[in-house]
Order: sequence, then structure tokens, then C-alpha cells
Amino acid sequence: MTSRDIEQGAAWIKEARDIVVFTGAGVSAESGIATFRDEDGLWAKFSPSQFGTWQGLLDVAISEPHRIAEYLTTLLDPIAAARPNPAHRAIAEIERHRRVTVITQNVDGLHGDAGSSRILEIHGSLLDIVGPMREPIRRLHRSDLARIVTLLREARGESSMHRPMGADPSTGFEISPRDLFSILAPFMTLGTGVFCRPSIVLFGEAMAEPAWSQAVHAAENADLMIVVGTSGMVYPAAFLPSQARAAGARLLAVNKESIDADLMLHGSAAEIVPALVSTAFG
Ligand code: OAD
Repeated sequence: MTSRDIEQGAAWIKEARDIVVFTGAGVSAESGIATFRDEDGLWAKFSPSQFGTWQGLLDVAISEPHRIAEYLTTLLDPIAAARPNPAHRAIAEIERHRRVTVITQNVDGLHGDAGSSRILEIHGSLLDIVGPMREPIRRLHRSDLARIVTLLREARGESSMHRPMGADPSTGFEISPRDLFSILAPFMTLGTGVFCRPSIVLFGEAMAEPAWSQAVHAAENADLMIVVGTSGMVYPAAFLPSQARAAGARLLAVNKESIDADLMLHGSAAEIVPALVSTAFG
């Protein structure tokens, strides 16, 4: 990538009237949250068929509750501590100059914390707890996630001192399903109590509505889509860039790896997105 590429991308941002910024896990990587499919990604440690589906989670919760505790500690701990990075903040900054819709696959709430106002969380949010019909029940704070992580760690600390029969030999991490369910009660009920869960979309589930319908509409009406930090492997979300392009939008991509785009800027989102925005409006 050259400074000419940045200037070209910035010129497109300046020329655009309706911008969609479509983001994935890479935009939050520099906030300390691992992506899914990079080498150190979440799915390298936890299989998506077990941990990315509701049935898989229920099965593991009953047969190996320590694995759910380990998974949730790995997932929630960085999100509980995360702050927006310069990429999130630069995306929010575009709104001061152009009409912008942020469509995100991320469930970490960081675009909202950065100040973007029109955000479509098409895979839901870890901070929004919903009931059986996806009706809102409560909104969590990051500190609530931190508390759950602390309780899971405490459960682990106690049991590794006693190392009971049946503990996972690799971690010494034992927790009974009952203790697990009780720690998780404000966050999700796995088979007990009044059903609640975060609004995140697991594999095989319908997309979050009305966010998804609004996202399709926004993509079809954009004249520029900036695609930041997504591998484009997960459908139907991955249809959005081609829908936008088919409706006449230019595609500008910022990613560490190559993806299909009219202009591809390789590298770190936290470096490139602020450079684009300051070149366009600075
Ligand atoms: P992936 O992990 O599939 O892709 C992350 C992308 O970000 C990769 O293309 C990386 O090269 C890129 N990347 C990593 N660090 C970056 C950085 N600092 N700057 C720029 N790019 C960077 O994550 P997603 O595409 O978001 O869905 O995954 C899509 C969906 O798959 C997720 O929403 C989740 C997951 O399974 C569900 O769970 C339903």
C-alpha cells in the first residue's frame, strides 16, 4: 500500500454521500480482542460446531462444564476490558462529515463506545440480554462481564486447590453444572431458570432483526462501502459487499489479508482508517 492508495481511498470518502462501513473482528483486534479465524483466533481453540451453536453449548455445559467456563473466560475477559481503538474512533469521526451507517458483525459494543450513532449489529450484542422471543430483558455493562469472569476464575481457583475427581487434567478446572448455571444466570440460562441469553447470533440462527433488513437496505443505497477487518467467510453477512457493489457502490477494503474490493489497503485497521479519515477531512 502506498500513500497514493490512501489518497485515492480518502478521495472516494470525500466524494461519497452515503457511506456504509462494514466491520468484522479485525477492527477490534487492536482493542485486544482476538479474531475468529486468524492463527490465534477463537475458533482455533474452541470448535465452532461446539461453541458456536446453541445445541453444542448446551451439550458441552452438561458433559464438560469446565470447558464452557474456559470458553466464556476466554471470550468475555478481553471484551470486558476493551476500549475503542483509533479505527473505531475514526469511523465515528466520518459521521461529522458524511451520512454513515456502521454495519458490524461484532458483538463487543465498541462502535457505540466510540461514538458512532447509526450502528446495525447484525450478529447481535454480548451486552444485550434477551428472552425466548428475543425481547429485550436487560442491558449489561462491561463491568457485569468482568464480574462473571471473576466468578468463573474464583470457581476455578477453589477447585484447582482440591483438584477433584473429574477435573480437566490439562487445566485442573472443575466446576459443577449447577455452579456454572448459577454464575451465568444474569447472562444466560443454560437449561435452568427463566430463559435468557445474550442477543448474539449463533451458527444456524436467524440474523438479528430489524438490524439485518436495515443493513441490506443500507448496503443497496450506499455509494461507498468501506469493509474493515472481516474475512468475508460467514454468510449471509458476507453477501453485503457484493450487494452494495451490484447496486453501484465502490468497495474500499482495509484488511491484513487480501479480499475482493475495488481498492484494497493492506495492513492494520487502527493505522489505515485514521489515515484515510484525516486525509479526507483533516
Ligand atoms: P474473522 O476472524 O473471520 O476475520 C478477521 C479478519 O480481520 C481477517 O481477514 C484478518 O486478516 C483481519 N484482521 C485481523 N487483524 C486485523 C487488523 N489489526 N487490522 C485489519 N484487519 C485485521 O472475523 P469475521 O470476519 O468478523 O459469527 O468473522 C465473521 C463471523 O464469524 C463473526 O461475526 C462470527 C464468526 O464466526 C458468528 O459467530 C455467527
